Amino acid sequence: MRPLIHFTPPQNFMNDPNGLVYLAGEYHLFYQHNPFGETWGHMSWGHAVSRDLVHWEHLPVALSEEDGVMVFSGCAVVDHANSSGFGDGLTPPLVAIYTGHSETEQTQNIAYSRDLGRTWTKYSDNPVIAIGSREHRDPKVVWHAPSQQWIMVTVLADRHQVRFDGSPDLIHWEHLSDFGPFGAADGVWECPDLFPLVVEGHPDETVWVLKVDVCRTVGAQVVFGDFDGARFSVRPGTEVQRVDHGVDFYAAQSWSDTPDGRRIWLAWMSNWHYGNATPSAGWRGVFSVPREVVLRETPVGLRLAQRPITELRALRGGRLRVNVSDIDDANTALAALEPLPALEMALRLDPTGARRIGVRFDHGAGQETLIVYDVAGGTLAIDRRRSGVVDFSEHFPALHVAPLALGGLPLDLEIFVDTCTIEGFAQAGAVALSDLVFPRGGLHSVSLFAEGGDPTIEALSLWPLAPAA
Ligand code: FRU
Repeated sequence: MRPLIHFTPPQNFMNDPNGLVYLAGEYHLFYQHNPFGETWGHMSWGHAVSRDLVHWEHLPVALSEEDGVMVFSGCAVVDHANSSGFGDGLTPPLVAIYTGHSETEQTQNIAYSRDLGRTWTKYSDNPVIAIGSREHRDPKVVWHAPSQQWIMVTVLADRHQVRFDGSPDLIHWEHLSDFGPFGAADGVWECPDLFPLVVEGHPDETVWVLKVDVCRTVGAQVVFGDFDGARFSVRPGTEVQRVDHGVDFYAAQSWSDTPDGRRIWLAWMSNWHYGNATPSAGWRGVFSVPREVVLRETPVGLRLAQRPITELRALRGGRLRVNVSDIDDANTALAALEPLPALEMALRLDPTGARRIGVRFDHGAGQETLIVYDVAGGTLAIDRRRSGVVDFSEHFPALHVAPLALGGLPLDLEIFVDTCTIEGFAQAGAVALSDLVFPRGGLHSVSLFAEGGDPTIEALSLWPLAPAA
């Protein structure tokens, strides 16, 4: 069942992505990792590097639990100006900022690397922030050029607030402000991210995006606003947006220092209802595909949209382009394909006349996962109730529904399927649905269905995906 195109740990347990940073031709990916077992514990940072965000090379554990302090989630930055003094004057140091978790306290700590992330030294005067809280964690740091300082955003998890601290050198921090609650606050808040984005087609309009995850409920949510170097304020007229309407897109983090200015993130495809219980075989945990994040002005206001990065196209095998407008003809062409472990599909259709339209992933032996477009209701859903192994958690067998808020025709749908993951993107990425599925056998055949009338298929393509290993 190991996914072909999604990142998984070589062995043992993985949850959040950590320390995503680019330096000298390499994308670094660290992750919450238990080096000693297949469930959460002894949290450390696993490590991998890639030149294209698609093919990953596994490296040794970078930061380990020590003296009863676990290495919880955090980020990494390139200290270009050597503000920390950790550099050797030749290559800028990488600095990791993470939460130290002990029985009694959560504090913010730093570590540095002078050899392109291969070896790490924990700062001797850790912690750099300690406020006497057990619920203060998950630092994400960004360089704020207008105020010439590093900004750290963390969560005060049980208070449903994010906290901002500023520093000239990543070592000495000053508390700037707190912000929140906003949106959903029915679970602890975790893993904030903060970044500016230029609105598509409006080169002069920059908006700051603040993301937090709400544990066991809606997952990632974003709020749009401005950050002035001390305080975050919400853009009038904007709404809090749920990032993904599936249930397996948690703790997303964006890369720091991408060479081309793209904002790219990925997330842990699981959640804390069953993160320790998913079927495993020596490893547990999978990340979403890396997604480029953009901001778009739409008829219903400002929206965050995400698309799988174009680098993933390198994995496409021969393309099946189905040149028909009718579902039966499309199904004849699709039925000629062998069941596939991993595939990408693009579909555009005019639903006029139909009540419900869907894509069926048939996993054999009576197992299936459906993506269903309810035309009248204006929703898109993923139904994994009969997707295979579902009995490891009462929260797993379920139907997850997304409102298609933008309206308008035709419907376009991009779907990435791997042995145990489905990620659907509608309306040019403004609506995302990401779910785990565990079909026995891990294979998928594809067909379409419609109820209440025949829609018109405007375009349909399918690509088998080759293993990224
Ligand atoms: C989110 C989280 C973080 C924490 C980490 C511990 O999944 O709970 O808040 O830092 O996992 O592994």
